[in-house]
Amino acid sequence: MIPRDFIDTLLARVDIVDVIDRRVSLKKAGQNYQACCPFHSEKTPSFTVSPTKQFYHCFGCGAHGTALGFLMEYEHMSFPDAVAALAQDVGLAIPESAQEPERPRPPPALWDALEQAAQFYKQQLKQTPRAIEYLKQRGLTGAIAARYGIGYAPDDWSPLKQVFSDYTADALAASGLVVDGERGRRYDRFRDRIMFPIRNIKGQIIGFGGRVLDKGEPKYLNSPETPLFHKGSELYGLFEARAAIKAAGRAIVVEGYMDVVALAQHGVEFAVAALGTATTPIHVRTLLRHTDCLIYAFDGDNAGRKAAWRALENSLEALQDGKEISFLFLPEGEDPDSTIRAHGQAAFLHLLDTDTLPLSAFLVRELSSGLKLDSQEGRASLLKQAKPLLEKISAPLLGNLIQRQIADLAHVPANELTHMGVKPSLTRPAPSRPQRRPAPSRLRNLARMLLLNPQRVGEIEMDWLDANDPLFERLTELMTWLRDIGQSSLPSLAEAARGSTLESLVNELMTDLLDKDDSWDWHAEFDGAARQLRDDWRRRRQQELAARPLNSLNASERQELMDLARS
Ligand code: UTP
Ligand code: MN
Repeated sequence: MIPRDFIDTLLARVDIVDVIDRRVSLKKAGQNYQACCPFHSEKTPSFTVSPTKQFYHCFGCGAHGTALGFLMEYEHMSFPDAVAALAQDVGLAIPESAQEPERPRPPPALWDALEQAAQFYKQQLKQTPRAIEYLKQRGLTGAIAARYGIGYAPDDWSPLKQVFSDYTADALAASGLVVDGERGRRYDRFRDRIMFPIRNIKGQIIGFGGRVLDKGEPKYLNSPETPLFHKGSELYGLFEARAAIKAAGRAIVVEGYMDVVALAQHGVEFAVAALGTATTPIHVRTLLRHTDCLIYAFDGDNAGRKAAWRALENSLEALQDGKEISFLFLPEGEDPDSTIRAHGQAAFLHLLDTDTLPLSAFLVRELSSGLKLDSQEGRASLLKQAKPLLEKISAPLLGNLIQRQIADLAHVPANELTHMGVKPSLTRPAPSRPQRRPAPSRLRNLARMLLLNPQRVGEIEMDWLDANDPLFERLTELMTWLRDIGQSSLPSLAEAARGSTLESLVNELMTDLLDKDDSWDWHAEFDGAARQLRDDWRRRRQQELAARPLNSLNASERQELMDLARS
């Protein structure tokens, strides 16, 4: 656990404008800053950052949060990693006890080792005509090779000895650059290969893929899993493709390094590849954060079709209503690289526009293929095979429609699927969409003022709250919570609420506050909100007491009624 004090200190030290501006260029707009939202594609900026409230909000897609939340979303970091990154930026040391002992952070030496190796491989490529010739013959120009940082690992046992004065360093083994063989003999992992550096979303090199120049096994050799490199969550080319994905409004997932690079060579820069593994739900979720439209373009061979089905299975739990996943099946023997080289950019884009099969159609087609749907037996096997897949679908609307289609094919009413044991598809909370702003109510106004003056929560009596207000319950919860917290800044409150039942309320209120002018006197506003609430309550109480026959009131109630009438 990272102590809350530390989070508070950290948030007080960082400036959200600075943190975001280093990643998404911000423009001043009135008292706030704006940009086109990095979390959905848009042409006019609705992403707003408040320097005084240290909070961001997108009025288009509803994304919001503090500097920490931004890093988590944008860099796909875990909470502890985002804390560590911010702390490092501002030179704060994370308290000892807070560091997770079982998951040591990758030592900085690892990053350096990979970066230096990449520089070396690039320089070696320049000096190796045979390797340059290979890339040329595959249709690549120097510019594209440079964009992807492509290099060459020389044909020798330990070329990296030229780079690292201490070839025995632990970091070299930990980074996957060398292999420790039998009898302690150490040698380079990559020898006589074209080297493709793999970068994380920040552009840091985390591993390599190396291809043989001629024939040889394996055709591609990849870095092993290391503290920096996790195949299941990294995508080759995402760093390079990010801007193009945003501009195109879609991303292509291909199978190979060469596919990514060849597509970019022909101006299709929005492709990425999974790294010699099946596409995972983490990959899909990552990509769907960058775009609403994902196209798998797999080879037209048997292996490609199998990979497509695996990709489908692994996409089901990451589906979201409003997002589109589809498949492009290339002709037998073709891959995206050979297709675009043979037919050019326009033809490839045309295929993307006209030849893709939506995930739902692919699913139904594969499930029903080879089954005799005119027999009860065939229809029963359809239902049996469909069941586990339907249950994985995380998009409620799409899931429902697909269930209905399967039910139709099986000649059963859709609602009977449930009786037959098919559970309704998973309903994971969808990412928050733009919500209609709730009509301003007295309680909502009070809640906002409380966030700005949490230490004054004691001045509000619970009695004053109107139990008929839709916010009543959440506000009482908020007040109890604020009593425990005491004085705290807005972003600290937002972070303290993370993961609690109050998280969404606190975020909504923060968003309300974004466009409030900073010239406000927040204390006076608080006084006003408190007074209104008390006056409303008095009026209600007076009416309630006055409505009762006088002789049913006890002495103190009578006194109360007189006091109320006087005030
Ligand atoms: P392919 O065998 O389809 O090769 O592997 P390719 O991408 O068309 O390669 P070229 O065009 O012959 O150069 C697709 C991907 O599968 C992984 C790599 O990520 C490769 O890009 N792979 C393949 C391996 O990891 N190891 C291998 O031995 C082969
Ligand atoms: Mn190929």
